[in-house]
Amino acid sequence: MISVKNLSKSFGDKVVLDNISLDIAQGEVVAIIGPSGSGKSTLLRCLNLLEKPESGTIEIGDRVLDTRRYSTKEAYALRQQTAMVFQNYNLFKNKTALENITEALIVVKKMPKKQAQEIGLRLIEQVGLLPEAHQYPVTLSGGQQQRVGIARALAVDPKAILFYEPTSALDPERVHEVLQVIQNLAKNSTAMVIVTHEMRFAKEVADRVIFMADGHIVEHGPAEQVISFSDNPQTQRFLRQMTKMPEHTEYDI
Ligand SMILES: Nc1ncnc2c1ncn2[C@@H]1O[C@H](COP(=O)(O)OP(=O)(O)OP(=O)(O)O)[C@@H](O)[C@H]1O
Ligand SMILES: [Mg+2]
Repeated sequence: MISVKNLSKSFGDKVVLDNISLDIAQGEVVAIIGPSGSGKSTLLRCLNLLEKPESGTIEIGDRVLDTRRYSTKEAYALRQQTAMVFQNYNLFKNKTALENITEALIVVKKMPKKQAQEIGLRLIEQVGLLPEAHQYPVTLSGGQQQRVGIARALAVDPKAILFYEPTSALDPERVHEVLQVIQNLAKNSTAMVIVTHEMRFAKEVADRVIFMADGHIVEHGPAEQVISFSDNPQTQRFLRQMTKMPEHTEYDI
């Protein structure tokens, strides 16, 4: 579903992504972990061309793009294959949960309002928020807002959903709501890529974990294996540091 080959990106002299290649299958959930500055966000931003890579190819769904030369039209077509979920939900405050979900369908896809609402209601039910469909974001909890964010991402029927720290603004007891929703979605055909600092969340939500450091993929493998049983010294050092941080002390990794 996603195939990246030899992706490189520098800022000035600094190489931030060094010849990254990865493949993510349909229905697969992949978490990207790694130290601050390792290139996780940049990689995600390159996938939908929010950041312009220097070289490499990106394939998402049925679109392939050579990052050295592409037209605006090709960039648009690639972006159409993806949707994003943000740390701070980024919902429209003056729209209800349902309106947030249907907005792109009505405005971008020019879908009749009634049809968009049918899709919106189905999605809001899927994330367990049918009773809250007509509430405004300010009246929803963080976990509920993030579930609206996920339903909104799904509305455009993307081939891949890119999650930026989806649980970092949530109280720990709300994290499982988002975890459950993502796990249910994994049964659909969408590929999901999640950048997260939360190791327990990564271990529970992901099929596979990619550990990045200094613009390289150091290690990748089944989530449990990388997070609990890695024998790579760099991965082990990173995980040790994460567990030392006070906010991570409750994690049993
Ligand atoms: N717009 C930019 N201009 C210059 N340097 C940048 C820019 N964006 C990112 N960088 C640099 O690229 C490197 C990778 O940054 P990135 O944000 O991808 O790291 P990260 O792994 O997401 O870190 P964190 O865990 O702190 O979110 C860092 O050294 C950062 O300073
Ligand atoms: Mg980041």
